[in-house]
Amino acid sequence: MYIDGTGYNIYIEKEGFDNLKEYISEKAKSKRLFILTDTNVYQHCASILFENIEQLKNAPCFTIQSGEKSKNMEKVMDLFHFLADNHANRDTILVCFGGGVVTDLGGFAASIYKRGIDTLLLPTSLLAQIDASIGGKTGIDANGIKNLIGSFYMPKGVFIFPGFLKSLPEREIKSGYAEAIKHALIDNKGYWNYLKEFDFTSYDRMIFKSIEIKDKLIDRDPKESGERKKLNFGHTIGHAIESYFLNQNAELVLHGEAVAAGMICESYISYKIQGLSEIELKEIIREIKKHFTKITIPDNSFEELKSYMLNDKKNSIYEINFTLLDAIGTSSFNRKADDTLIQESLLFYYQNG
Ligand SMILES: NC(=O)c1ccc[n+]([C@@H]2O[C@H](COP(=O)([O-])OP(=O)(O)OC[C@H]3O[C@@H](n4cnc5c(N)ncnc54)[C@H](O)[C@@H]3O)[C@@H](O)[C@H]2O)c1
Repeated sequence: MYIDGTGYNIYIEKEGFDNLKEYISEKAKSKRLFILTDTNVYQHCASILFENIEQLKNAPCFTIQSGEKSKNMEKVMDLFHFLADNHANRDTILVCFGGGVVTDLGGFAASIYKRGIDTLLLPTSLLAQIDASIGGKTGIDANGIKNLIGSFYMPKGVFIFPGFLKSLPEREIKSGYAEAIKHALIDNKGYWNYLKEFDFTSYDRMIFKSIEIKDKLIDRDPKESGERKKLNFGHTIGHAIESYFLNQNAELVLHGEAVAAGMICESYISYKIQGLSEIELKEIIREIKKHFTKITIPDNSFEELKSYMLNDKKNSIYEINFTLLDAIGTSSFNRKADDTLIQESLLFYYQNG
């Protein structure tokens, strides 16, 4: 099955690796392949990939420590040294094999190495399969801020193997599931109803539906000047929470977990100023609470959270932009909320999340 992405193809392989095999032996036959992956993915998924794709078995492979803390400039520089030491040039394809950290970091590095080399994305986490590998946003964290540095850089192809999800821990599955909830809430009530009954046994339909929604918005607005902003629902507050914990020495909050909390806050703001009904607000909270436990954010953290929100690329120095829900399945972007309401939404989360 494949979706015509914005300038590249997205393949969802049911069994086997046919499309990737064909791409590598035909379109990439005169190219040199390099792999970027992380320690967990190498351990759990590399042998499956190498058994199927001979050409990748012998490709130079750079492995980063797994997790968000690796999504930084130091790792990009290490990757550049590795590429240069192995004489990677404009004929090189960087195969980004891993979760959203690998696809974000690899896409960013590829977009500037020798002014741009090609990438193929092989997402292995649910979050990367339904969201991070789609749409060409790349980036790394810097100065304690999520995705401070990045680029828009489309891959040559995205190849999705749902079979890789067998080794993905449940907590990471749920983190990815948060993005599926977001896709449904902003764009498709039918999908929301489907997710309410989701039994976590087969992901094929979810992957297809989520990609279809995300790709449609990107196709209409590739550089995020308008409708693509809808995909930021839950992320204005979610990214601030994620950045806050990234800068603590506490256990990390996963991206999807922070987004789930952000979606409760931003649904509350939607109820207050965007016409979301109280019945639907309660339904959203009930569904999110089925899968996510409350994140404890200290009472005195608001100023720090606010400074992360103001640093977000989507916002100006004075105003914080939100995507808000009109109802489940329809949303509006470029909505403003004042400090009091944002703070109130966090309080609402502490009491109801
Ligand atoms: N570019 C975008 O449009 C976009 C969209 C959403 C999120 N993101 C970014 O994606 C990142 C989060 O992605 P993520 O949740 O995939 O994080 P991740 O890359 O850290 O992967 C999550 C964990 O799962 C492990 N893992 C991945 N696949 C596995 C598998 N098949 N078996 C066993 N373990 C596996 C990884 O090693 C890691 O420990 C964040 O940095 C976020 O900002 C980007």
